[in-house]
Amino acid sequence: MRFNKKVALITGGSRGMGKAIAQRFLNEGAKVIIFDIEKPDYEVDFFQVDITQEKQIQKAFQEIKHLDIVVNNAGIHFSVSVEKTLKEDLDKIIDVNFKGVYLVSKHAIPLIRKSKGNIINIASVVGIIPEPESPAYCSTKAAVIMLTKCMAQEYASEGIRVNAILPGPIDTPMLRKVLSSEDLFQEFAQANPMKRVGKPEDIANLAIFLASDEASYITSGIYTVDGGESSTSRYSK
Ligand SMILES: NC(=O)c1ccc[n+]([C@@H]2O[C@H](COP(=O)([O-])OP(=O)(O)OC[C@H]3O[C@@H](n4cnc5c(N)ncnc54)[C@H](O)[C@@H]3O)[C@@H](O)[C@H]2O)c1
Repeated sequence: MRFNKKVALITGGSRGMGKAIAQRFLNEGAKVIIFDIEKPDYEVDFFQVDITQEKQIQKAFQEIKHLDIVVNNAGIHFSVSVEKTLKEDLDKIIDVNFKGVYLVSKHAIPLIRKSKGNIINIASVVGIIPEPESPAYCSTKAAVIMLTKCMAQEYASEGIRVNAILPGPIDTPMLRKVLSSEDLFQEFAQANPMKRVGKPEDIANLAIFLASDEASYITSGIYTVDGGESSTSRYSK
């Protein structure tokens, strides 16, 4: 129960990775708050917040009096070439994946300052290695990595830690939508050095460590959880 009396806010905690992270915090004794556009199917403090809407974020924060941990996890994905990308789709992915992380952090920092807490941003390995078919998605994740480093530097002297987790392929509704058939899913899994995709719990395990006092000297860290995928040599089988 190392998170007894701690309060953790997880965006996009209604399903997938966010749900696994939330459940891990709940199991370790934390009070968990979820911001999501979808209602969670488990018992948790829930605010219906679209993280692209600053007014909704502000309104929710008026009701939050204490906060130790933020996991900026909510995100969306699409794969379209640059020349075929619609302006409104580009705006949407930047609004959710980048500005959402920025705005939730903006309103959380005054509370995190008081608790000397920490922020974890869920980016992606494609923020450091290109996935040519998803230029907009990759770019938003690269932006989140830089934002993590800037915030970590800005707030380190105040005892606030900021780190990023870069998942590789993780078995969530998002990945199942991208890899729509079981054959494609298995093919993708076999291409990973560990011959599998990750489980949401693989991400939760690192999130819980980074949020804990055991990680008290860790800030500005960029951690891949990807079965080795992002450092695959072109010579490896
Ligand atoms: N699954 C993967 O393979 C993978 C790999 C690398 C990074 N990621 C990243 O991990 C994070 C979680 O992904 P996932 O696979 O669990 O996705 P998912 O689609 O399964 O779940 C995303 C959650 O975010 C919520 N959400 C979406 N837009 C929102 C908004 N505007 N405001 C509030 N909530 C919103 C959804 O309702 C959902 O509950 C995302 O940032 C994603 O980009 C995923």
